[in-house]
Amino acid sequence: MFNNINKSKKVVLVGDGAVGSSYAFSMLQANVADEIVIVDIQKDHSQGDVLDLEDVLPLTNPAGIRTGSYEDAKDADLVVITAGVPRKPGESRLDLVSKNTKILESIVKPIVNSGFDGIFLVSANPVDILTTITQRISGFSKNRVLGTGTSLDTARLDVALANKFNVSLQDVNADVMGEHGDTSFAAYDEATIEGQPLKDVAYNREITSKELANIEKDVRAKGGQIIRQKGATFYGVAMSLMRISKAVLNNENLVMPISAPLTGEYGLHDIYIGNPAVINAQGIAKVIEVPLSSDELAKMRHSAGQMAEIVVATK
Ligand code: LAC
Repeated sequence: MFNNINKSKKVVLVGDGAVGSSYAFSMLQANVADEIVIVDIQKDHSQGDVLDLEDVLPLTNPAGIRTGSYEDAKDADLVVITAGVPRKPGESRLDLVSKNTKILESIVKPIVNSGFDGIFLVSANPVDILTTITQRISGFSKNRVLGTGTSLDTARLDVALANKFNVSLQDVNADVMGEHGDTSFAAYDEATIEGQPLKDVAYNREITSKELANIEKDVRAKGGQIIRQKGATFYGVAMSLMRISKAVLNNENLVMPISAPLTGEYGLHDIYIGNPAVINAQGIAKVIEVPLSSDELAKMRHSAGQMAEIVVATK
């Protein structure tokens, strides 16, 4: 299926902090959108960022880049929400729920009122819960609201496994699933290294299950480590946002672990959680129910369970 190449691809970016600005930069470099409109409460800062970003254009590809308002969403294909209070060192993502839920409510309602009928993409944390809330506030069908979920964790796992197994990143196929947070898990039982089951390759190379568990733990902790060392994370999640945006705008049918809505998979309902999904111009074309081992199914249910309590509490 070819996307409509005559229709200009318009993105409204809400939130021009480090993540939003890195996302806009990566979108311009990747030539993904024809127009990017940046909406942020700090008008002077975002206008300055646009002046900086437009200087990228002569060396990349023509695109419109400007500041605007929620009204600009009326004919947008995609609204990307990065606005939210970021974590401070030592804070968990779940600590941010009430603060960022309030911010979300002030964003989603005016966007829906503008007549927006495209796709929402959320990265603000805790991303799975805020994606769930975005869907609830917007009233959009679940397939039209996506979150970055464990796409970033999966990138981190792939980097760690490529180093450990001494293979190229393209030869690692391993997903992180569950909440983008402390209860996420590496789905090692389904992972492959150079096309072979990861567990078999690990056995042959004498890489122990303890070492694999330590990699999983380090991946889970990496966001917090980066925040402690440099104050925030932004390039990794911005690239996840760009890659998901590209799959939507180009109608790619890309399979990637994102915040996906479960409607019975693994016996779970009414929750967005990190899980592989097919992404195209319709948003989520399909949520893939991975044939998890019993151990990993228990981890998925545990991860969803501890989030569900918070989602209910925000109602
Ligand atoms: C991180 C943020 C995006 O893990 O939650 O870097």
